Amino acid sequence: MKRMPGIVSGVVLTAILAGAVGSSTHAQTKSVLLSVELPDSPTAGARLFAQKSCVRCHSLGGGEPRVGPDLGRILFSGTVLDLAGAFWNHAPAMREKMQDLRIQPPTMTSGEMADIIALLTAYRYYITELGGPGSPSAGRAVFASKGCVHCHSVNGNAWEQPGPNLRRYRGRFSAIFLAQAMWNHGPEMASAMQGLGLKWPKFTGREMGDLVAYLQAGNGGSSEERVYFEPGSPRRGRQLFSDKRCLACHAIAGKGGRGGPDLGTRPRELVGSVASIAGLMWNHSQGMTAEFRRRGIPRVTFSGQEMADIIGYLYFVNYANVRGTPARGAQIFVDKCSTCHSIGSGKGIGPDLGGVPRLDDPIAIIAAMWNHSAKMEEELRKRGLPWPRLESGEAADLTAFLLSRRDTSAARPTTGASR
Ligand code: HEC
Ligand code: HEC
Ligand code: HEC
Ligand code: HEC
Repeated sequence: MKRMPGIVSGVVLTAILAGAVGSSTHAQTKSVLLSVELPDSPTAGARLFAQKSCVRCHSLGGGEPRVGPDLGRILFSGTVLDLAGAFWNHAPAMREKMQDLRIQPPTMTSGEMADIIALLTAYRYYITELGGPGSPSAGRAVFASKGCVHCHSVNGNAWEQPGPNLRRYRGRFSAIFLAQAMWNHGPEMASAMQGLGLKWPKFTGREMGDLVAYLQAGNGGSSEERVYFEPGSPRRGRQLFSDKRCLACHAIAGKGGRGGPDLGTRPRELVGSVASIAGLMWNHSQGMTAEFRRRGIPRVTFSGQEMADIIGYLYFVNYANVRGTPARGAQIFVDKCSTCHSIGSGKGIGPDLGGVPRLDDPIAIIAAMWNHSAKMEEELRKRGLPWPRLESGEAADLTAFLLSRRDTSAARPTTGASR
């Protein structure tokens, strides 16, 4: 079930379309939180990717070249709505190719759109290589400089070392697996380090990704036979986040405990790869362990799948917590949509966007735009107007604006407006 996005409380926008655009700096800068439902499983979109014919023109990370770009190789920057916006921006080109290939353009419910977007983002976060592949040789240097080499070997050599041989992580190994093992064994490693007078090493930038690449490859080996975990379920992760008592010390976007930092408002740090999130947890694990002790909370461990779910949750909750500025959206609406659409007055070539049922969350709006893109394109052509592209941040601003107007000017359906 979709919740109504909890937006626009206190933001008065009624006057904006009536010519007040740009007149109030306060309203210009005031942003609202758009809530996008957490996906249950990013892989649910895989089925749709085939069903909706995307697979006929796009591959997802490898495979033979197709008409459209490999969507597993594009690093979609920005938020979940920027990705939806990219889909919209390319609609005319895609439709043209669909016509050539006699593919019936698929229509999409907002739930389907959300699942497909989740699939595409899952690629971004599982495949660290997107930002540039992890480098085994750089990872080897990391392994030495962080002191792992004092206690672990990665070869078959039976060195007398305090820590277990890490050979078993070669190849069949994922960043999640390493994150989980490092987390679970943290306290023992800490005391071994203390014994040797070593400091708890911290990871920055790409170091964790490189370390993963090194352990996967072993000394000079190849990283061919990689096995990834089942992608985490952000929704299950949300449950674990409370079951494992993370919520006792961490808030998510303002809701939850104190003592640790808010983990729901960190798009810059937490919308990275699995390895970078794992690196953050490792970096802070000493501080956390101390806080666990202070409060008498038993330290928790994770199974691999649980770690995948938690990381999936932290990733998505930041990716999907999008802020939009309705006042900026109003300007976009004026510039790109108002030739054909009105809100509330009932006029226009296109439907009055205040009255269309079910446009009650940002993804639903983009899905509806896609579903009606053929007719919109025709009307644009007739008028010699360009396709109304949505640049970075604009999909969020525009949908924030449309939703705010619905709250004030439209009778929205009470229930059943679901995916
Ligand atoms: C008939 C072929 C075809 C089909 C079917 C198709 N696409 Fe595309 N898609 C393309 C082409 C070609 C482009 C590049 C268009 C351009 O250059 O503007 C593209 C671009 C995209 C982009 C933008 C990539 C970027 O560079 O930002 C996304 C996202 C996308 N497609 C998603 C999908 C999804 C999801 C589906 C299934 C619902 C789908 N496509 C179905 C051909 C297709
Ligand atoms: C001072 C010694 C020491 C250092 C330095 C050290 N570890 Fe460990 N590590 C250990 C010990 C001891 C264990 C086994 C802990 C246990 O049994 O719970 C371990 C366990 C592990 C495990 C789990 C192994 C398994 O087979 O389950 C991984 C993975 C690991 N370490 C990775 C690392 C990495 C990566 C580094 C460098 C950032 C590192 N360790 C630094 C001592 C160390
Ligand atoms: C007892 C309190 C406590 C609990 C419970 C706790 N944390 Fe923390 N967490 C902290 C503190 C304190 C920090 C900051 C530590 C530091 O600065 O070194 C932190 C930092 C973090 C960070 C790094 C954030 C950043 O600012 O970069 C992550 C990620 C994290 N915790 C995840 C978790 C997860 C997942 C759980 C549940 C398994 C959890 N924490 C449970 C107290 C806690
Ligand atoms: C050139 C005219 C034109 C422009 C510009 C235009 N639209 Fe449309 N739009 C239409 C028409 C016509 C329809 C009805 C299409 C149909 O019936 O299939 C439509 C339908 C829609 C729908 C679907 C409504 C429903 O019934 O579900 C949405 C949402 C929408 N437009 C949003 C936008 C937004 C947002 C913009 C600006 C970025 C925009 N449109 C720009 C003409 C336009």
